[in-house]
Amino acid sequence: MKILKTKEELQNIRKTIQSTVGFVPTMGALHDGHISLIKKAREENEIVIVSIFVNPTQFLPGEDLDAYPRRDEADKKICEMCKVDYLFMPEIPTMYTKEEVLIKAPNKSYILEGQARPGHFDGVLQIVMKLFGLVLPTNAYFGKKDAQQLSLITQMVKDFFLPINIVPCEIVRESDGLALSSRNVYLNETQRKDALLISKSLYAAATLIAKDEKNVKTIKEKIYEVMNSLDVEYVAIVDKEFNEIEKIEIGNTVILVVARFGQTRLLDNIWL
Ligand code: PAJ
Repeated sequence: MKILKTKEELQNIRKTIQSTVGFVPTMGALHDGHISLIKKAREENEIVIVSIFVNPTQFLPGEDLDAYPRRDEADKKICEMCKVDYLFMPEIPTMYTKEEVLIKAPNKSYILEGQARPGHFDGVLQIVMKLFGLVLPTNAYFGKKDAQQLSLITQMVKDFFLPINIVPCEIVRESDGLALSSRNVYLNETQRKDALLISKSLYAAATLIAKDEKNVKTIKEKIYEVMNSLDVEYVAIVDKEFNEIEKIEIGNTVILVVARFGQTRLLDNIWL
């Protein structure tokens, strides 16, 4: 595996690659969720490129940019183990220089995650567009865990006619159901236990739906009931394009929940 720091190194190498390139963009502190994306990329492409960059433009003032977990050495080992070909680890001045042309996420990026974090998705799309321009991937891998991010990146690729295939990847969970997240390390023991109610509420919703309950209001009530003791920020039931819906449509519905544990926000969702 080769570690690349500058965009010139990456661009020079990219010029020599004729075969398929699978790309997994990350912010590091790699866990089994990221690893599942890398493994899928490894299976489906001749060359695999992973990036690790804690992107400042997607953090709002007061968010955890400075505290965001950084584990460069461990991450390098993980990528090596997963047989990554190139690991791109740029510094901020490599990715951002002066005042730039900006990407503006559509209005629907200001609901749900975007309402809690206004401008967050502009920063995500800006960096993903830049990384796509450097890596020129055939396939790019994103987790369903960040459902709204996945939906907006899919739309960006379509709207800008980018010849890149976006590959959605399943959510990886702890054995007890908690969705893996780099932010889980912020949880204390009690919070970690309480956090289980998030996935439990989604499973309870899925069980209701399996019994043919299609009414969104009833399902939301069930979810709130299970998470009764938590500081729930939102529960949303939307179609794949993130329009609110009233009836569950199997194959085109995502249920999203966010709960707060002190400063830490935990997201989870299921795709029906
Ligand atoms: P990061 O949070 O590091 O996540 C990198 C990728 O891993 C994302 O596509 C995310 O959805 C996926 N992922 C995280 N946890 C997962 C889990 N439990 N199961 C499956 N996939 C999971 O998302 C970002 O970084 C950034 O916004 C980025 C796209 C890199 C732009 O800066």
